[in-house]
Amino acid sequence: MSFRLPTVRASVDAVRAEEATDALLIVGAFTSDKKLALTPSAADVNVALNHALTRHFARGSFTGSLGTSLLFDESENFPGGVAVLGLGEIADFNAEAFKILLEKAAATFGPWAKEIAFTADEWLPGDMAEKDVAQLFATTLLNALSQRVTLKTSDIDEMETEKVLWLNDEISEDAVAGLAQGRQCADAMVTMRYLADLPCNVCTPQFLADFVSETAQSINGLDVEIFDEKKIAALGMGAFLSVAQGSVVPPRFIVMRWQGGEKDASPIALVGKGITFDAGGISLKPAADMADMIYDMSGAASVIGTVLAAARAGLKKNVLGVVAACENLPSGSAAKPGDVVTSLAGKTIEILNTDCEGRMVLADALAWTALEKPAVMLDMATLTGAVCVALGDPYSGLFTSDSSLAEELVAIGKRTLDEVWPMPVGPAYKKLMRSNVADIANQATTRNGGASSAAAFLSVFTGDVRWAHLDIAATANVGGRDRHSTGRPASLLTTFLIEF
Ligand code: BES
Ligand code: MN
Ligand code: ZN
Repeated sequence: MSFRLPTVRASVDAVRAEEATDALLIVGAFTSDKKLALTPSAADVNVALNHALTRHFARGSFTGSLGTSLLFDESENFPGGVAVLGLGEIADFNAEAFKILLEKAAATFGPWAKEIAFTADEWLPGDMAEKDVAQLFATTLLNALSQRVTLKTSDIDEMETEKVLWLNDEISEDAVAGLAQGRQCADAMVTMRYLADLPCNVCTPQFLADFVSETAQSINGLDVEIFDEKKIAALGMGAFLSVAQGSVVPPRFIVMRWQGGEKDASPIALVGKGITFDAGGISLKPAADMADMIYDMSGAASVIGTVLAAARAGLKKNVLGVVAACENLPSGSAAKPGDVVTSLAGKTIEILNTDCEGRMVLADALAWTALEKPAVMLDMATLTGAVCVALGDPYSGLFTSDSSLAEELVAIGKRTLDEVWPMPVGPAYKKLMRSNVADIANQATTRNGGASSAAAFLSVFTGDVRWAHLDIAATANVGGRDRHSTGRPASLLTTFLIEF
């Protein structure tokens, strides 16, 4: 099977209008109480085009509602052509509308326009900082302009845009920094989406390991270590191995070390659940929508995407990326409900439900990472159906007892529109994980509070490291026939690495 690695192809730069003459100029028009309310650039365009905009609006051929557009041919005034984007009612415009609009613009102009130039800083109300607007602009456009991986052999949609321009008369340091951060976010998201969208017969643990090793070869300062099943066993990762043992496809433990900071500075650690397929094991899942479980390695994909993007951007911090990858299948060699295994941390775990495999692989991955003494440790996992019930897809579930860490992640989530919502974790939930035969059970005594009891289980294996857990079961991908990776939470993580 042949497929192409999608990458962020387009560049993004801040320039003054006179430097963007080849580009398709894109200006915005609001409505206010259903009357046309032109932004300054749109007003200029209207005058230059003999009030064509006003006429289209009066006639109803341009309504100005969010995401609609009107395209004018190349002319002397606009050698690259000009398009007017409907921004919708001015009172309703906010960061979310901005994002939807840019996605529409990418879908409309991306398939044919080589260069697109936006006067986007005129659009947002003053409550968002220019840097954040610029970051969101670059993240959204570059992500939307990047191809999705496809195994189709025909009818492949191509994107043509090579240059995205942020137009402004005055180019601020904030805008330039925001665009660069946004580019790094999109880079992380595109890699994440690529890995997550690949089916599990292609994207095996070994595939992930090879991808990371091969990509790292061209990045100076990024070291990769791959542990095979022998090494994993020798280290004593009995919880991880209990999941992997049901499949003939061997597990891989992937360690990425980016040394962009001071030699001895403790790294920021990102740990990802990498179940390349979750059939549930002996506690088999129902058939309906089981294919969605190729996304059970989204946590791992977010870690790999984020660390590679940080390394490619030359981030001046130390980062440790850790991924535990395997399949969770039923077979004659699979772990059974009632089995007891010993984890890397030395604690024994009673397996009551083999479909609670994410917490098993993370128990060992977190314990291993904690021994590296990171400054902070975040884990990302499509861990529970319960978090989908609780929050749906507006927010990833955030579990931590560290309130300043929670505050920082919530704030970054708001600015990147990759939002998280704090959920409880603590002794009241840990109690639910009791076992009569082992130190802890892998399933709670009740389904209620399932996302928090899963997080409480993880907390047992984090040592004394500052730690937060993101349950991305509802946010990482869209399910069903239109299933695809969203790239979340890669832009949250990327921004966290930059700002922590
Ligand atoms: N990977 C699943 C969680 C999941 C469910 C992700 C739906 C995305 C969509 C996880 O391994 C799992 O099976 N969790 C079980 C735990 C339960 C048996 C306590 C679940 O949530 O059903
Ligand atoms: Mn499962
Ligand atoms: Zn799972």
